[in-house]
Amino acid sequence: AQSDRVESLIAQMTPAEKAGQLSCFSDQIRPIGVPFNPGLANGGATEQLARIRTGAIGMLFNGVGYAGAKAAQDAAMATRLKIPLIFAGDVIHGLRTAYPLPIAEACAFDPDLAMRTARAAALESTALGIHWTFAPMVDVARDQRWGRVAEGSGEDPYLGIALAKARVKGFQGDDLRDPTRVAACAKHFAAYGAVSGGQDYNFTEISPATLNEVHLAPFKACVDAGVATLMSAFNDIDGVPASGNHWLMTDLLRGQWRFRGMVVGDYTADEELVAHGYAADGRDAAKKAFLAGMDMAMQSNLFNLWLPDLVAKGEVPMARLDEAVRRVLQLKEAIGLFADPYRSVSARAERISVSTPAMLKLSREAGARSIVMLKNEGALLPLKKAPGRIALIGPFGEDRQNVVGTWAFMADETLNVSIAQGLRARGVSVTAVAGSGIEAPLPGGIAAAVAAAQAADVVLLAIGESQLMSGEAQARTEIVVPTPQMALAEAVAATGKPVVVLLRHGRALALHGAVKDAPAILATWFLGSQSGHAIADVLFGDVNPSAKLSASFPNESGQEPYFYNHKNTGRPAPDTGSQEYKSRYRETKNEALYPFGFGLSYTSFAVSAVSVPARMTDRIEVSATVTNTGARDGDAVVQLYIHDRVASRTRPVRELKGFARVSLKAGESKPVRFALAREDLRFWGDGGWVVEPGMFDLWVATSSVDGEKQAFELM
Ligand code: IFM
Repeated sequence: AQSDRVESLIAQMTPAEKAGQLSCFSDQIRPIGVPFNPGLANGGATEQLARIRTGAIGMLFNGVGYAGAKAAQDAAMATRLKIPLIFAGDVIHGLRTAYPLPIAEACAFDPDLAMRTARAAALESTALGIHWTFAPMVDVARDQRWGRVAEGSGEDPYLGIALAKARVKGFQGDDLRDPTRVAACAKHFAAYGAVSGGQDYNFTEISPATLNEVHLAPFKACVDAGVATLMSAFNDIDGVPASGNHWLMTDLLRGQWRFRGMVVGDYTADEELVAHGYAADGRDAAKKAFLAGMDMAMQSNLFNLWLPDLVAKGEVPMARLDEAVRRVLQLKEAIGLFADPYRSVSARAERISVSTPAMLKLSREAGARSIVMLKNEGALLPLKKAPGRIALIGPFGEDRQNVVGTWAFMADETLNVSIAQGLRARGVSVTAVAGSGIEAPLPGGIAAAVAAAQAADVVLLAIGESQLMSGEAQARTEIVVPTPQMALAEAVAATGKPVVVLLRHGRALALHGAVKDAPAILATWFLGSQSGHAIADVLFGDVNPSAKLSASFPNESGQEPYFYNHKNTGRPAPDTGSQEYKSRYRETKNEALYPFGFGLSYTSFAVSAVSVPARMTDRIEVSATVTNTGARDGDAVVQLYIHDRVASRTRPVRELKGFARVSLKAGESKPVRFALAREDLRFWGDGGWVVEPGMFDLWVATSSVDGEKQAFELM
């Protein structure tokens, strides 16, 4: 019966009505922060409502609120065929309640946490009239200069896949008709994370192996996990823009992967085929994007403008137009919009299911679990319950603007908790001094900061990047703490007071000088609405840090692109001895300052009794014991890495193939087990996946650079 309805609608639709269903626009009716008032509707809203009534719009995105959604849906229900609108939004790490940036949340190495925050975001989104989120962003990013590393799960495909699957499940649940669930959208298909030089929208140069093993793998996992939609990317692949790429969006996605959902183009990505030099004009761009497999065009209006004409002239088959419309209508049907066009449009839900205490609690929990302790000399942390006088120095101490991070433009800023607020809320008195602007000096700032440091027993130095310094189109050549803040850090360090650096950042940074040398460093990223509470929880030891880096911190910006799972080369630089004619830099080490998988705890862990069968046919179980060797309870994140010693393709020095989070009381030991299957050892060979017999190294480790090397043979 469901498909009957869709087929009957398609049979009745004109080409113009079909093109309308394939066109979506930024929501002018309910822009963020402006309550919809029909009497006072702004010009954009009036015009957009009128266009909806003509059937020229199938979806609106990035608006919230009951009243505007009701008005927009009323307009859609006034069209000839009464096809409801679908409302989408960039719910990347929460909506009104923000959770940690995805790159930060990835540090928790905790798919269950990712699922819970996605689930909570779905609850809040549907309460605000959103049916479909443009998330998860599953681009694997190996160059921290790229601003959009912030939105993904870091540099490793295995971790990225685990979190992508968890987020799809958290958003969609088991049945999209559940009115508290949203359709998910894996983006940006594909290889957006490989933009050259980390410069946004740039071309890519990717080997077939890296494309398949690293960049496509998370999308395939999302398709297998039942993701409802994909978004096509801005970049090109091997000279063909992803958004006009037939091989990518049709041969691979439909032919090989059997994806049955819908593909939306990124914002004007179809139109950009002209600037790419891949299409002559708007008409040609619409034709190429649509025939390549883009089902819905975002914001360009090109499908409305040209598809009816292209079909009339026989340049686009009607069957292709119907196929795309079918996918859009099937999505609307799957989420129950035909049964109830006003699904998720509820004044009551908006009142009771937004920014609930449970959501704020989860934001705080997720924030604390995402903080990575990089350094803690002399056990400076956790701070004692009576820590003496605290100077909170730096532009982020009292700042409530740069709290949630990029792609949270719909977040409710009144929920933001600064570090100062987080500390004061627990009765800790602090003297807060900015000392510097984020990117510009503050007149007299350093002198005031030095005076505050001198009068204190411990300094909390809250420095780093503003939330505008990462995100879309925010590439950096030097991924460092901005110069004025470095001057502040040096002056504060010169007082000789113990300094705890609280880094704020949307990417891994290269740390230098007084920041690098500080006795304690917490990587606090952007942790979402409840940041200040989360940071205070870790500073005072209520939460024992357990997160591990999802992206390596290089020694220098010039090491980028840097990732732990690189190749060995024919001339690897030795740890000691002459480095002449070896693969190295003159100015710095090859290693990361803080590598992928690294993160400290207030306790310590040891891995022992690693047991690896000597041979694998189809599957082996690797077991080990993990012991909390310190004096506090804590969580260990145990990681399994492999290395293929000899193969028909050069292989990474290490590859993550498993991880487990284990809670341990002080002194307690627990077993950990990992299943490793033949398929986990495959790689991309001559045009396809291969598994080659031979010797593999294996590590059960607490980071990508430790663990005792073991071995097994694949038969
Ligand atoms: O979803 C985003 C995408 O990630 C970047 N371009 C705009 C889209 C809609 O806001």
